[in-house]
Amino acid sequence: MKDELIKYRRNINKIDRKMKKLFLKRMDISKKIGKYKELNNLDYIDKNRELELKKELINDINKDNIKDLYLKYLNNIIDLSVDLQTNNHTIIYDTIDNIKSYYKNKEVLLITDKNVYNLYNNKINKLFNSNEIYIIEPGEQSKNINNILDIIKLLIDKHYSRNSLIIGLGGGVITDLSGMIASIYKRGIDLILVPTTLLSMVDASIGMKNGINFLDTKNLIGTYKQACKTIIDFSFLKTLDKRIYNEGIFEIIKIFLAFSKDDYNNLLNNNLKEEDMIKKAIKLKQNIVMLDPYDKSLRHGLNFGHTIGHAIESCSLKENNILYHGESIAYGMLYFIDEKIKPSLFSTKE
Ligand code: GLY
Repeated sequence: MKDELIKYRRNINKIDRKMKKLFLKRMDISKKIGKYKELNNLDYIDKNRELELKKELINDINKDNIKDLYLKYLNNIIDLSVDLQTNNHTIIYDTIDNIKSYYKNKEVLLITDKNVYNLYNNKINKLFNSNEIYIIEPGEQSKNINNILDIIKLLIDKHYSRNSLIIGLGGGVITDLSGMIASIYKRGIDLILVPTTLLSMVDASIGMKNGINFLDTKNLIGTYKQACKTIIDFSFLKTLDKRIYNEGIFEIIKIFLAFSKDDYNNLLNNNLKEEDMIKKAIKLKQNIVMLDPYDKSLRHGLNFGHTIGHAIESCSLKENNILYHGESIAYGMLYFIDEKIKPSLFSTKE
C-alpha cells in the first residue's frame, strides 16, 4: 500500500508541476493581452469569449459532480487573468533618468527620504519640480499613520485628482508608505515604485503589499495595491552601505532557498552575476505572487523566518534599531534552517 501511495504521489506531483508551468505561461500571455488592450483602448473583459471557453472546456467532462468543481476552477483562473490584465504590473529595467517616458499627463508626487534625496538631489531636481517632491525622515519609524495623514492632507490641499500619480523612490519604508497612500487617496490612484535598496528591489516593490506600523506592531495597517510599474535602476546599488546591501542578499537567499534549489546552488557557488541574481529573484517573486496574490497559501513561503524575525526586529527598534529588517529576518531564518545546510550558508565568499 505504501509503495502504491508513493507512486500516486509521484504522479500527482508530476502533473502539478506541469500544471504550474502551463498556468504560469497562461498568466504571462494574459498579461500581454492586458497590455495590448490598454495600448489599443479595448475593453479588458470579453464575456462572450469567456462563456465560449468555459462551454468548450466543460463539455468533455462527463461526471456531473466533477463538472461543478471544474467550473469553479475555470472561474478562478479567468478571474485571476482578468485581475492580471487590469492590474498590469510591469518591471522595467532602466535608469530613473527615463522615468518621464513611462507616464503621460499626470500630476505627480514623488515621495522619498532625506538619505536618498541627499545622495541624488541633482538627478531628482532635474526630473521633478520642488513642489512635486515630498521628503520624509529615513528609517522604520517613518512608517507611521501621521506621515500618511500629512501626505494625504497635502494631496488634498494641492488638489491632486483621481488621475494623479504617486512615485515612491527609496527603500521598503518609502515603497510601503507610497503604496498605502496611492491605494487609499480617492480610493486609489496610480503608483510607480523606484526601489533604491537591494531589499526593496527584490521584495517590497514587488507583490502589492504595503503598510505602516501601529501600536508597536509592524505592518498592522496596510492594503494590497498593485504598482503600474516598478523601475529597477541598478545604479542605485552603488551607493548602498554593506549592511543595507546584505539585507537584500538575505532576502534573495530566502527566495532561492524556499523556491529554487538551482538558483540557490548557483548563488552559493558564485555562479550568478549580480544583475542576473536580482532578475531571477524578482521573476520568482512575481510568479509566486501571481499564483497566490493575497497570501493565502504558496506566498506563505516568503514569510520564512518572519515570525521570529519580526519579534527580533521589534526588540531591535526599541533599542535604537540595532538590527535592520533584513538582518532580523536572517536571524529568524537561521533558527529554522537545517543544521546540514547551515555550513554552506557560511561558506560563501562574502
Ligand atoms: N515579504 C513577503 C511577501 O511579499 O509576501
